[in-house]
Amino acid sequence: MDSIIVTGGTELKGQIPIAGAKNACLALMPATLLSDEPLTLTNAPRLSDIKTMTLLLESLGAEVRSMQEGRVLAMSSHDLNNLTADYDIVRKMRASNLVLGPLLARAGHAVVSLPGGCAIGARPMDLHIAGLEALGAQIELKDGYLHADAPKGLKGAVIEQRFASVGATENIVMAATLAKGSTVLKNAAREPEIVDLVKCLRAMGAQIAGEGTATIEIQGVDRLHGATHPVVADRIELGTYMIAPAIAGGEVELVGGGMDLLPAFCEKLDAAGIVVTPTEKGIRVSRSNGRAKAVDVKTEVFPGFPTDLQAQMMALLATAKGTSVLEETIFENRFMHAPELMRMGADIEVHGGHATVKGVERLKGAPVMATDLRASVSLILAGLGAEGETMVNRVYHLDRGYERVEEKLSAVGARIERVKGE
Ligand code: EPU
Repeated sequence: MDSIIVTGGTELKGQIPIAGAKNACLALMPATLLSDEPLTLTNAPRLSDIKTMTLLLESLGAEVRSMQEGRVLAMSSHDLNNLTADYDIVRKMRASNLVLGPLLARAGHAVVSLPGGCAIGARPMDLHIAGLEALGAQIELKDGYLHADAPKGLKGAVIEQRFASVGATENIVMAATLAKGSTVLKNAAREPEIVDLVKCLRAMGAQIAGEGTATIEIQGVDRLHGATHPVVADRIELGTYMIAPAIAGGEVELVGGGMDLLPAFCEKLDAAGIVVTPTEKGIRVSRSNGRAKAVDVKTEVFPGFPTDLQAQMMALLATAKGTSVLEETIFENRFMHAPELMRMGADIEVHGGHATVKGVERLKGAPVMATDLRASVSLILAGLGAEGETMVNRVYHLDRGYERVEEKLSAVGARIERVKGE
């Protein structure tokens, strides 16, 4: 397995291009299942999770052509010949469950493995199931698989989610595009990835209003047609690389994506004394006045502080002046990076959903390991500011969600290299 070695202590300077959003692309790809005409995505990110979704769609009979080195995905679901999403694929990536709504809406039947728990939490699917059942589906759990049927098609309904789940909102909205009549989804997720999905569905002929607000209304249509859609910028990649100069010092311009994608996060960086300014091409971030200041952070659904940037923020606060409290409200087990940061000298105490971080002057490089994607990248960020060498093991997590991390960071002066493993 590959490792990444970071040698801390160099300031960063230059530009980092931001790719298309992993989590938008993973919802947009299953939208191809809704139509027998081609759907083409441009600005797709080149990530192993996208390859996993490609394999899943292909296993259902869809064609996925990757062009321009993976930047363009030309998909066609003209001939679906299998309606089962197998455990072997689903267990690798939870987002595989996003084929459930589209398959059910298009084919009236779907069998999708339950994903099981993952490192950051149990992550059940009750909201997906309740939403699709409200649209008239009959769903049964057998042998670890959800068997979903709607032989006479789905029917619009008023649905109120108890929590604004991103994935459930995506599945329900996709399914409702082909349901009879209108659907009102209350307490819908408002994340930019949902807005992007709705834009694409609309380009395919869907009638949807209210995306980006807590109420989304969908008027079902008989069929959707082909479209070409550019994937929105990855706000989590953007936020991650905004923290790099905040930790290492220097000035970096992130090209692509704006502050509107990360309102609460930008406010917190500002409160921590990091200079964040919009530019014509994106965002410029600099840290000129020594260590950051401590700030308290609570993760929330959009437009709140994203859980997917909590680990990276902790890496920054580990060397801030003062004590910060981070509260994780979205996932029950998302502080696995804390003990690894502590191996580098961070002073962190975790109590349930709270982590108290007493900033230290500087971290020291160490061999570290992480069990999820965002935790891994937080260790690389910590390594950029640490004294000496940090070796991050198990980087396959990183490759799931960060495109060529070592190339992007070395282009702005970081000392970082990948060591090929077996
Ligand atoms: N939840 C339920 N029941 C459900 C669905 C969710 O209880 O039916 C709970 C989950 O267990 C969790 C919370 O609700 O505690 C949030 O889950 P949500 O459904 O909103 O998240 P998701 O759709 O599974 C997406 C991203 C995650 C990101 C979350 C929150 C994708 C492919 N994944 O997951 O991204 O953390 O939204 O913003 O879009 C990552 O990229 O590293 C990542 C984990």
